[in-house]
Amino acid sequence: MVSFRVALQLSFAALTLAQTQGASKLQWGPCNETEVPSDVPVDCSVLMVPLDYTEPDSDEKLQLDLVRVPAPIKPSKGSILFNFGGPGSNGRDTIGTKTLAEELLALTGRQFDLITFDPRGTPGSKIPIQCFETEVDAWSYYLHRVPAMASDVELGKQWAYATKLADACFRTHNKTGSLISSAFVARDMMQIVDALGEDGMLRYWGFSYGTTLGATTAAMFPDKVEQMILDGVQNPHEYYHAQADFEEWTDADKEFSAIFTGCVEAGEKCELTKGNNKTAAELEQTIWDLLETVKYRPIALKTFILDYNNVKSLLVQALYDNSLWPLLARVLNAILTEQYDLVNDIYEALMPTTDIDIFKESQQPQVISAIHCSDNMVRSKTFDDFAPAIERLYNISKIIGDGVIFLNSACAQWKIEPKERYTGDFNVKTKSPVLFIGNTFDGLTPLVSAKNVSSTFEGSALLTVDGYGVSYLFLSLRDPLYRGFAGY
Ligand SMILES: *[C@@H]1O[C@H](CO)[C@@H](O)[C@H](O)[C@H]1NC(C)=O
Ligand SMILES: *[C@@H]1O[C@H](CO)[C@@H](O)[C@H](O)[C@H]1NC(C)=O
Ligand SMILES: *[C@@H]1O[C@H](CO)[C@@H](O)[C@H](O)[C@H]1NC(C)=O
Ligand SMILES: *[C@@H]1O[C@H](CO)[C@@H](O)[C@H](O)[C@H]1NC(C)=O
Ligand SMILES: *[C@@H]1O[C@H](CO)[C@@H](O)[C@H](O)[C@H]1NC(C)=O
Repeated sequence: MVSFRVALQLSFAALTLAQTQGASKLQWGPCNETEVPSDVPVDCSVLMVPLDYTEPDSDEKLQLDLVRVPAPIKPSKGSILFNFGGPGSNGRDTIGTKTLAEELLALTGRQFDLITFDPRGTPGSKIPIQCFETEVDAWSYYLHRVPAMASDVELGKQWAYATKLADACFRTHNKTGSLISSAFVARDMMQIVDALGEDGMLRYWGFSYGTTLGATTAAMFPDKVEQMILDGVQNPHEYYHAQADFEEWTDADKEFSAIFTGCVEAGEKCELTKGNNKTAAELEQTIWDLLETVKYRPIALKTFILDYNNVKSLLVQALYDNSLWPLLARVLNAILTEQYDLVNDIYEALMPTTDIDIFKESQQPQVISAIHCSDNMVRSKTFDDFAPAIERLYNISKIIGDGVIFLNSACAQWKIEPKERYTGDFNVKTKSPVLFIGNTFDGLTPLVSAKNVSSTFEGSALLTVDGYGVSYLFLSLRDPLYRGFAGY
């Protein structure tokens, strides 16, 4: 942990601003606490940018709302921009979280201002995507976004619901939907860099989809890259050019198996070992069997139906975050031993079912689809053209290969053309070399993708971290020992 900290600090701290380019155009002041909840001091600003970069004569503007965690050590050595993934996650409601902000400040030597914003199309932006006009349409779309192996008829239904989404977005967002591609967000970041009035150079740290945004920005503006970390890397070639993000799931089943290996190693501390199963393989097989059981015989709990979707969603959630592993073992043990009140309580805590704002809840998968499908170039005329991609996904990962068919089906049928899309390659020579980071057991942004992108970024370095879960940063926040069951 300490050595990573030093390495990353050096990566940023070595640099001093070359020459400032005049005064900042940004005025920073207090934030709206509803939109920017924060545990640490933050300030906010707005920047007007072109709404449509392909219309240079238009004076239509888009307001970008910025939030900054100011450097505790003054004077600041400059600003670092962040993107926390998705695509489609807000940035402003994330960066002020105490543990996150403190870790980021520590990792950057407390000498840089940390800045983020809600990218185009995200719920917090001024052009949020919500394609459905009625709650009924929004909710029925939302409810069908389950793992496709949940039943034999699911694939066809997801294809049809994706048709509905593509149609609804085309009907209600044919303009805004064309203005939210990653290429436009890259240009927004350049506007921010210029408005900061620093050295005119980009300092950036992206996670997961944020690495695709970073790679795209670097490819479009290589001379502007002063410092960049791409952490938990997504394969941008597939993101733009393939029917699905196949490589993304390369290590998912390996990480899933590691849950059970870790459990057996933890012994009594892992509740799953209380049953008859002694080896990791036996434990894992029992969970696969459980999925098949609840698929055909869902169990009605007090407020939940324990079905394939609910069990698998929890298993997949654990791939993001190994700090969930002990809780996962507890709930799985409770299911196997039929302690259903306990199961219900744990599910309730993880997924509240009361006070749901249907439009808000249903927005996230729409936003992911609208941004990813703007960027992605592959369309399929019929379900049959798309079917081989599904088989390939199933072959790559049993645990998550069926997890985002709703997204891939939407892109296959997307109707809105973006005003600009990055169509170039990723053979990039940046002004300063980029640092890539990959974890050995990352089920969602695998090391192989970090190697892939790093290999065509001239002079870049690849830091490999032995650990479970998505990206170095999020892993360091959870468990400095990188061991799922060690924190027991
Ligand atoms: C703060 O944000 C909320 C939610 O967007 C909005 O309703 C409210 O008017 C804002 N408050 C101020 C003072 O701007
Ligand atoms: C987008 O929607 C507007 C308003 O419904 C319509 O006038 C326009 O023709 C549509 N554009 C396309 C490309 O369909
Ligand atoms: C593992 O545990 C399950 C559930 O208790 C049981 O049905 C199964 O027979 C066990 N498998 C072995 C190999 O002991
Ligand atoms: C999936 O795996 C099966 C069995 O290994 C193989 O026959 C099939 O060609 C694979 N399909 C795809 C699309 O990769
Ligand atoms: C990177 O991934 C793409 C898409 O899978 C592939 O076509 C390309 O050959 C890979 N490049 C390297 C250097 O591995």
